Amino acid sequence: MSLRIPPARVVFSDADRSEIAGYVDEALRTGSLTLGPRTIELEREFAERHGVAHAIAVSSGTSAIEIALRILGVAGREILVPANTFFATAAAVMHAGGQPRFADVSADTLSLSAETTRAALTDDTAGVVLVHIGGLVSPEVEEIRALCDERGIFLLEDAAHAHGAAYRNRSAGTFGAMGCFSFYPTKVITSGEGGMIVTDDESVADEARIYRDQGKAGFFGGAHVRLGAAWRMSELHAAVGLVHTRRLDQFLAVRRRVAARYDAALHGSGTVEPLLPAEGCEHAYYKYPAMLAPVIDRDSFKKRLAEEHGIGMSGEVYARPLHHEPVFANIAQVLLPVAEDVCARHVCLPLHSDMTDDEADAVIDAINAVARS
Ligand SMILES: Cc1ncc(COP(=O)(O)O)c(C=O)c1O
Repeated sequence: MSLRIPPARVVFSDADRSEIAGYVDEALRTGSLTLGPRTIELEREFAERHGVAHAIAVSSGTSAIEIALRILGVAGREILVPANTFFATAAAVMHAGGQPRFADVSADTLSLSAETTRAALTDDTAGVVLVHIGGLVSPEVEEIRALCDERGIFLLEDAAHAHGAAYRNRSAGTFGAMGCFSFYPTKVITSGEGGMIVTDDESVADEARIYRDQGKAGFFGGAHVRLGAAWRMSELHAAVGLVHTRRLDQFLAVRRRVAARYDAALHGSGTVEPLLPAEGCEHAYYKYPAMLAPVIDRDSFKKRLAEEHGIGMSGEVYARPLHHEPVFANIAQVLLPVAEDVCARHVCLPLHSDMTDDEADAVIDAINAVARS
């Protein structure tokens, strides 16, 4: 065994760590510890990079989604959510007073398709949450948006995985009413903890700023006009997020280079089949999901890669569909065959923002060795 490869690696260069230390020192010296100059700078640069008028920094991806849903008004209403998303997508719907309805997904993208969205819509559906699983924006995003427009319902993007992803040169997070990003440590870029809402609508941006700060009409006081919460981003987190946002294109380039290497080696191998992005998709490669041939048992495959080759596979997206999670047991149990199949059968290859070609080749060699024996 030569190279040990962890499932994820958080990348901060020496220069980036010193820059962050400088910002943190400044915040401590000035006492500007929350919603201050670094947050404003992060919001400006994030908005600019994603081609959108407004970005509002918040405490997490989860609070970003809940704030967006509160602005859209989902209390007592049914909201479509893919079955294979993170718990927080559906939980945020419930925290905002709505009821998730789980929908099936496409095996090509692991995301909602126009067909699975159409099939799951009911007369009570008030909106659709499209999750760009793994950092891939579905090539059907415009069709899904048109479907929502026809019905007069909203499209919200959970872009927690999709910083810098795009479809036909349009950034993830800008196709629907709002886009919600996460800066959790494993994400393509992180602030430690944090999230971001993007929108072109100034009044929506104003609402998001009110919600994130206890529903107050203004930062320096005023009446509590919304049922907000402590959903602010601290300056210390903003400093980390700002420096990482400036690294986004560099990290994406590395991730795309490694993904292309995986694609070339594994496509058609008959063992681990990558999901190749359609024309026009600029993948963020937060994750690199690939489907295992039905004869391969996922648990033993991953165990052998770890024990015999030192390769830690990354977490799935997701191993168990939400309609099988005990906490959602009281939500109508539905059969969602594609989501169930892809959840059971895929693995996510290690993919880091500083991964070398040698590391990628070690992963490929290990997969081939395990698949052969
Ligand atoms: C798809 C998805 N939605 C929402 C979230 C919630 O983000 P956070 O952990 O920043 O609250 C995450 C991730 O962690 C996620 O993967």
